[in-house]
Amino acid sequence: MFRRIDRAGETVTITFDGIPMCVAAEQTVAAALLGQGIATLRSSVVGNRPRAPYCLMGVCFECLVTIDGIQNRQACMTVLRDGMAISSQSGARALDEGC
Ligand code: FES
Repeated sequence: MFRRIDRAGETVTITFDGIPMCVAAEQTVAAALLGQGIATLRSSVVGNRPRAPYCLMGVCFECLVTIDGIQNRQACMTVLRDGMAISSQSGARALDEGC
């Protein structure tokens, strides 16, 4: 369904759930993960069902991931940065007890 247009250019190294991968720079986190064949980025709060990026324009919130320890980041609205540690989310996000 998603096929990358190959462009010679810069790459960045990221991790997803601890797995390192080298991907093209200048794209969103969602595009990079979909390009790597990773479609399930989180599981739903109710029913723990797998969820994948849907709208790719910041509307549906199906692409929420944890990036560098910060939960609920929209993968489709976040541009890749070298060294990003991305992880999938399962269920509801944790709440800070101090807030
Ligand atoms: S895919 Fe819909 S908000 Fe990211």
